Amino acid sequence: MPNLTVVGAQWGDEGKGKVVDYLARSAGVVARFQGGPNAGHTVCVDRNTFTFHQIPSAILSPKATCIIGCGCVIDPYVFEHELAVLRKKKISPGQRLVVDCRAHMILPYHQQLDRLRDEQSAKQRIGTTGRGIGPAYADKVNRTGIRAGDLLSEEVFNDKLKHNVAAANFLLMDRYKAEPISLKATAHEYWQATRRIARMIGDGSRMIEDALRRGERVMFEGAQGMHLDIDLGTYPYVTSSTTWAGGVAPGTGISPVWLEEVVGIAKAYTTRVGLGPFPTEMNDADAERLRALGHEYGATTGRPRRCGWFDAPVVRASVRHNKLQALVVTKLDVLDSLEEIKVCHAYRLEGREVGEFDPFHAAEFEPQYETMPGWREQISGCRTFAGLPLRARRYLAKLEELCDCPIALVSVGSERSQTIPFKSNKLRWLRQ
Ligand code: IMP
Repeated sequence: MPNLTVVGAQWGDEGKGKVVDYLARSAGVVARFQGGPNAGHTVCVDRNTFTFHQIPSAILSPKATCIIGCGCVIDPYVFEHELAVLRKKKISPGQRLVVDCRAHMILPYHQQLDRLRDEQSAKQRIGTTGRGIGPAYADKVNRTGIRAGDLLSEEVFNDKLKHNVAAANFLLMDRYKAEPISLKATAHEYWQATRRIARMIGDGSRMIEDALRRGERVMFEGAQGMHLDIDLGTYPYVTSSTTWAGGVAPGTGISPVWLEEVVGIAKAYTTRVGLGPFPTEMNDADAERLRALGHEYGATTGRPRRCGWFDAPVVRASVRHNKLQALVVTKLDVLDSLEEIKVCHAYRLEGREVGEFDPFHAAEFEPQYETMPGWREQISGCRTFAGLPLRARRYLAKLEELCDCPIALVSVGSERSQTIPFKSNKLRWLRQ
């Protein structure tokens, strides 16, 4: 049976939640391999809208077991909130939700330190989501983090917390001149807040491997996008984890030899939240228009997203790094009313033409555009490739050509049903 990895091909917010939900309908296991509640995945099913930050979007597929892999970081308060929303809609994950014992926990001081660092240092500002992601991963790499498995013993948890609160208070008071946090209150509240998670802790790595050996359909779900990757992204304006397909093995604990197909999700245009280079960013008026049409506001922070034209060199870099077999193009319907649509096919740099995005020169690239006519009709009701207007099909063909990657699916609305299988789809995941 095939297994599939799903990654964002741009700077996140590509609409992975909807696509993962669509692709996961046939999955036995879906594992998230990185990130935490910085992600915001919106899924609409039968007119119900869910926004997931911490729980994998595939939880709405009744057959899928969802695993939060060892490469993730977990905020138990967000986790509890999302479980409560699911319960209200009469969805009870039961045994279908498992937290790998090796995943790291986000503690309240991580959030405080994240926000203070981003607010107080104009030079080092990244525009993070303020969810404590960087400091939690920093503790992991520093080998002082608290892992999900530590929540199984109050003594172990308290002992680790004592050292970490002391270190956090030193930073809070000395560096940021902020109030210290209380060890006693944090220990008590956090322990209480994590009792449900503690019952979901297991060996995610073993479960995924067993499912692969049994020949089940296994999907790996990335959060954020390729160019927010800690190593390959627009450093330092990145998140603190491995967002491309290379993160699946360390983020789930299985051998990379198991991995088969990789699909990249790309919006029909480009957006970015937070600071950092963005070659095809539009002028204010155009960005404002696209933002309104596409409801481009962060699902996690509500911040307006920066908007720009489709940047083929950005997606081409994702195709190469991830060896993408296919693209899924989302939000095509957002472009319905535009008279003209621009696509960046290359950049100019010091008199040369450059065909692939490279974070080192990102600020100097001058995007070169091709202008295509818009289709000026509503496509959200289309359900087949042939039913799309000719100009929309031409636009998609142009993206395929420029990105050097076939398109497998196109999304024309937020509902699960508003998804169009593409003409010559070669993904085994969709065919078998
Ligand atoms: P952090 O992940 O909260 O540390 O934020 C680091 C950078 O990644 C900031 O520019 C955020 O806006 C961006 N970021 C983090 N998560 C997401 C996401 O899910 N979508 C889009 N941008 C994100």
